[in-house]
Amino acid sequence: MTDFRNRTALVTGASSGIGAAFTEALAARGADLVLAAPSEGKLRPVAERLRALHGVRVWTVPVDLAREDGPDLLVEQVRATDREIDVLVNNAGFGTYGRYEELPADRDHREVMVDVVAVERVTHLLLPAMVERGHGTVVNVSSTSGFQAVPYMAVYGASKAFVLSFSIALWAEYRSRGIQVLAVCPGPTDTNFFEVLGRRMSAGGRLRTTDEVVSAAFRGLDRGLPYVIDGRLNYLTSNASRLLGRGLVAGITARTLRPRGRP
Ligand SMILES: NC(=O)c1ccc[n+]([C@@H]2O[C@H](COP(=O)([O-])OP(=O)(O)OC[C@H]3O[C@@H](n4cnc5c(N)ncnc54)[C@H](OP(=O)(O)O)[C@@H]3O)[C@@H](O)[C@H]2O)c1
Repeated sequence: MTDFRNRTALVTGASSGIGAAFTEALAARGADLVLAAPSEGKLRPVAERLRALHGVRVWTVPVDLAREDGPDLLVEQVRATDREIDVLVNNAGFGTYGRYEELPADRDHREVMVDVVAVERVTHLLLPAMVERGHGTVVNVSSTSGFQAVPYMAVYGASKAFVLSFSIALWAEYRSRGIQVLAVCPGPTDTNFFEVLGRRMSAGGRLRTTDEVVSAAFRGLDRGLPYVIDGRLNYLTSNASRLLGRGLVAGITARTLRPRGRP
């Protein structure tokens, strides 16, 4: 088990789901933590639990990463803690579901800001110091959706494809310089994600647990992989586009996800 004592980790979207599970696993390995999410009220109980259970230092930063200046405000507050970030987990994110023309343009824009723009910007702000120190870890939460086009979740699938491609490129660019970059690709996982999305779904199997996702991520880090897919069934479905062709898989997905009712 990798030891993160004397290391500080920043986790975005730390107030629930996969992000909260990451904070728990990192604290169990001795890391001090900076937790970021929009609501201080939701972050506080997570922070208190980590301090009580693991005796680590924890800072909370309420921030809306959909705002243009969100990532810069976050990093400003991180710098105010006087801690260098050794581990960055870009986890904050959400999806939108429905016919593209009917989805509020504003919400899709916020989705791109959180799922894509903030991931790139926060990484850009924190990675140079890791390079200077000659060590660091960046974990970006992508999705099995990153491997294929996802009709009725077009913006989400495209956003996660960005995260996957971006992470693999940085993995190859920085692995010889002491920086590990990993994309974690969960399939349907038991979190608030589907309440926010407004539709339940699974890839035929049971929902995965957040602990399973985080364990897969640590296995990926231990093995120095560029990306990791959580769960065997998710691994198979993620490879469908490669085997069957991107158009065919998008067509099948469109039939599966098409919203009920007109048109
Ligand atoms: N669950 C799945 O099936 C699944 C599958 C593949 C990938 N993922 C990815 O896993 C990541 C975590 O999602 P989850 O499943 O754990 O869902 P979740 O429980 O809804 O957690 C999402 C986290 O992101 C935060 N967040 C949302 N909007 C934000 C914003 N504007 N600024 C800063 N933080 C924001 C949320 O804070 P609030 O609660 O305060 O809004 C929450 O802490 C996401 O990137 C998601 O795309 C999830």
